[in-house]
Amino acid sequence: MKATDEYVRSKELAAKLVNAGSYRNVIYCRNTTDAINIVALSWGEANIRKGDHILITDMEHHSNIVPWLMLAKRKGAVLDHVQLKGKESIDMEDLRKKLELKPKIFAFCHVSNVLGSINDAKGLTKLAHEAGAKVLVDAAQSVPHMPVDFKDIGCDFLAFSPHKMLGPAGLGVLCAGEELLDGITPAIVGSDMIRTVTFDSADWNELPWKFESGTPNMEGGIGFGAAIEYLNGIGMEKVRQHEMELTSYALKRLQEQEDITIYGYGAKNVAKRGGVISFNIKGAHPHDVASIFNSDGIAIRAGHHCAMPLVNQVLCETAVSRMSFYIYNKPEEIDKAIEAVGKVRKVLRLATSQ
Ligand SMILES: Cc1ncc(COP(=O)(O)O)c(C=O)c1O
Repeated sequence: MKATDEYVRSKELAAKLVNAGSYRNVIYCRNTTDAINIVALSWGEANIRKGDHILITDMEHHSNIVPWLMLAKRKGAVLDHVQLKGKESIDMEDLRKKLELKPKIFAFCHVSNVLGSINDAKGLTKLAHEAGAKVLVDAAQSVPHMPVDFKDIGCDFLAFSPHKMLGPAGLGVLCAGEELLDGITPAIVGSDMIRTVTFDSADWNELPWKFESGTPNMEGGIGFGAAIEYLNGIGMEKVRQHEMELTSYALKRLQEQEDITIYGYGAKNVAKRGGVISFNIKGAHPHDVASIFNSDGIAIRAGHHCAMPLVNQVLCETAVSRMSFYIYNKPEEIDKAIEAVGKVRKVLRLATSQ
């Protein structure tokens, strides 16, 4: 009983964090990927039919592409993707055109994990709703880094991952309105999520348990509650401010380097981006860059960042390097990273090292 109380209290904290109303609107699952799959497999199975359109954007993580791609294939539906403008933001003209096709759902990221671009989730939701679409916001890169208000955005589904915000791995969050969730038949069924079962029928438990079959990840949920309380102690406004300062400083320092390409908005538009910076050093493969940074104790990520359509087809790169900041990072670490850029040039004997 104590574990259940703490688990519910964690959901109350999560509901408050993103202004989702009651804990009944907060479903715990495995991660953001799982949360999006739950929507595609339950709401999607019931509502997408042959010839329907599903809309995503060119800046999505694989987690917000593949569940829709598979749903479209199963149903004979069409998966459309909104183009980007200037390789930075959603092309609003293209969005309007794609919304004229009356998609059943528009699923987009709040913040791109590659470009760092922050999408106007509220404005995009309004446009999509006017076109009759449901809206899913992939908030994996926003909820950990800035204040996010589910009710103010007005979307139907919001997904994020506690492991990106000091919480335990193996837990994901899906927020949705009670009325919408009440009308959806769960895709994953079995124990705990039922009220009564006979050999001929089953009916569902109340929200949010209806969507949480089997023994829940209690330790994950309770651990996430502790992470939320810690972040509340700092304040999400402050988290955002700290990251903006670091991002602004890093962008300025990177922009001074002639052989570096930065993807997404530059320092002047730092308010339009979150705390990730993807970049490439001319003549250096991102995996070499990451490895040389690592030898100086700096952890960055290199690769396609689970966004192959964006990195390969839009940015026309095989891979990019990416710095990402959180509350524990300091400006001195950015200086160290810039020194590591010099080391990359030296080790790889790039022309710019002369
Ligand atoms: C924008 C975005 N969406 C979805 C995901 C997937 O999150 P998870 O691995 O927790 O399912 C990530 C993870 O990096 C992400 O950055």
